[in-house]
Amino acid sequence: MRTDPGAAAPSDPLAGRRILVLISGSIAAVKLPLVVSALIRRGAEVRCVVSPAAARLVSPVALASLSRRPCHSDEDAWNPASPRPLHVELAEWAELVLLAPLSASTLGRWVHGIGDTLVAAVLLACEAPVLVAPAMNTAMWASPGVAANWQILQHWPRLLPLPPGSGLLACDRIGDGRMAEPERLLLGLESLACWGWHRDWLGRRLLVSAGPTREPLDPARCLTNPSTGLMGLSLAQAALLRGAEVDLVHGPLAAPVALLEGLRVHPIQTASEMEQSLLALQPGASAIAMAAAVADHRRATPAATKLSKQALEASLGQGWETVPDLLAGLVARRPPGQAILGFAAYSGDHAMAEVRAKFARKGCDLLFANPIDQPQAGFASATNAGWLLGSGDGATWFDPAPKLSIAHRLLSALGDRLEPVPALRPPEEVARNPGPQDRPPAAAAP
Ligand code: CTP
Repeated sequence: MRTDPGAAAPSDPLAGRRILVLISGSIAAVKLPLVVSALIRRGAEVRCVVSPAAARLVSPVALASLSRRPCHSDEDAWNPASPRPLHVELAEWAELVLLAPLSASTLGRWVHGIGDTLVAAVLLACEAPVLVAPAMNTAMWASPGVAANWQILQHWPRLLPLPPGSGLLACDRIGDGRMAEPERLLLGLESLACWGWHRDWLGRRLLVSAGPTREPLDPARCLTNPSTGLMGLSLAQAALLRGAEVDLVHGPLAAPVALLEGLRVHPIQTASEMEQSLLALQPGASAIAMAAAVADHRRATPAATKLSKQALEASLGQGWETVPDLLAGLVARRPPGQAILGFAAYSGDHAMAEVRAKFARKGCDLLFANPIDQPQAGFASATNAGWLLGSGDGATWFDPAPKLSIAHRLLSALGDRLEPVPALRPPEEVARNPGPQDRPPAAAAP
């Protein structure tokens, strides 16, 4: 079995990408220098444009030094020394666009096709994918005009919206309108870079398990494993960005990843808690990805009080029970049409036969077998690699890549197993002309 991928070190999906950062007038603009600096450290080429209001909130000089390129503002537009209109030149240069923070005025200009600032004109001229992160006061965000404009944007192509979260705002209100944090902006850009903007999981629900479980021996000690949860977390975040509703059941996470707004998280500690949570969430899920590293054994009865070293040592050989196979349990209960992806950790050179036997035993639709003894795969690694087994005898090798990128490939394979979702139509169109799929289900006969 091939366990050594022999490929070059996986590169960051953002390295070498031309990223245009458009900053409009909200106080959250002060966070953008951190994002620009992180993008440069990750090897991206960055150019910044500030709206007139943003230029008063964040220093164009700081943005220019951090991006190593001039920061543009409205004064640069229509410069007689430039051979091409600046908004067109910038729009055509960009491979990816980050629009953050998006203010109410820039949203209005964009949606209604008014290009009277450099930021708005670039948006109108741009054909690259745009990650959009609004930020504003709670009442402004809820106002009918802004809400309607935001709704219109949801149906445009090439957009990846990161809706604002709830929290303390600069106006001292606590409520919706807080821009997605810089880590989430970077995650959204990485997702755009490795997958794009298509929301092919809209209308679907994914149930994901992630991280280790922790089986207590006594109140002070437990049996666990080195899983950080990053692979499952990456699957959950990637699916959310692709439009899915996502339930994430996770053990203690050690992955340094900010969770996206909208993920439904169900933290657990033990395999038994994970089992209960998964079984409760299984009905109605379109697909399940079982990335958790579930413990294999647990104490039948953990000690109620802390054991002395001697008592612990004496008890180590007895009192264990095998943890039931949660994945096999989910497969046994699955409703028609639900697709299930399992994982298999393996090590050593001759494990393919064992992996195939495990695939047959578990009964899932897909199994991703990753070599945990390779430097660019497995526990606590930022990257992963492995074989994807599906129907038939074949297996597809995934070269080492960041876990988010592997997650997108796995989601595509899982999505291929699902019935197509009827195309979602904009709400205005549904209201004008409802089709049979848009009507509420008829009440059941008594
Ligand atoms: N798994 C599970 N319940 C368990 C153990 C594992 O649901 N009690 C799931 C994991 O989430 C993973 C798959 O089964 O999707 C394979 O896990 P792995 O640790 O590779 O295999 P095991 O079934 O534990 O078998 P073994 O350790 O003997 O190789």
